Amino acid sequence: MVDRADSFSGSRIVVASRNPAKVREIRRVIEGLPVEVMDLAQAGFDAEIEETGQTFAENAAAKALAVAEATGELALADDSGLMVDALGGRPGVLSARYGGDDLTDSQRVELLLRELAQVPHARRAAQFVCVLALAVPGRILARWAGRVCGVIADKPQGTGGFGYDPVFLYLPAGRTFAQMTPDEKNAVSHRGRAVRRLPEVLRRLSEADWPH
Ligand code: IMP
Repeated sequence: MVDRADSFSGSRIVVASRNPAKVREIRRVIEGLPVEVMDLAQAGFDAEIEETGQTFAENAAAKALAVAEATGELALADDSGLMVDALGGRPGVLSARYGGDDLTDSQRVELLLRELAQVPHARRAAQFVCVLALAVPGRILARWAGRVCGVIADKPQGTGGFGYDPVFLYLPAGRTFAQMTPDEKNAVSHRGRAVRRLPEVLRRLSEADWPH
């Protein structure tokens, strides 16, 4: 999972995301570690990063490398999405653009429900996947994933969260992600699980080559 680092510019990390909620979540998880978290604006990065990879891992790596190279800093990027078994893993890496760029989150949910209209409950398994990548300029240091399994509900339920949360039924809670509080969702979500491994990854890198 963790590669050795040849060089670091310091104990700062740029989170390669324009989503303030993701940056906040990462800040919360690595609070207490001697690492300063910066967002893209603080790192002076304002370019667009295209997501052209075929996998979450490729996209996360490309984003982390682009930001590390442009800023000279250690960069962390994520790519995530929903994989539905009955659709052969779709929408997958295209989750954010499923059905076209112009659809709203709720239109994407409706499209998903239409595609699954004939699929019985027992065959509606799905998972959310989040891949995180950590890079320094020119080099990926580590890549790892967080996953959570669920079932696509028959209709949207709940008003919390975003994206496909209203139809992602998390069976141990008997509720959709949109019916759970942010803390309840983070405790079990793909992103929460991946982000909570970051301190361990940083510690391993630090034991290897992180400058003291
Ligand atoms: P990105 O990783 O920010 O590019 O998100 C990819 C897309 O996957 C989002 O636009 C959502 O459609 C979907 N997605 C990823 N994570 C979640 C989640 O936690 N809840 C609901 N939808 C999600």
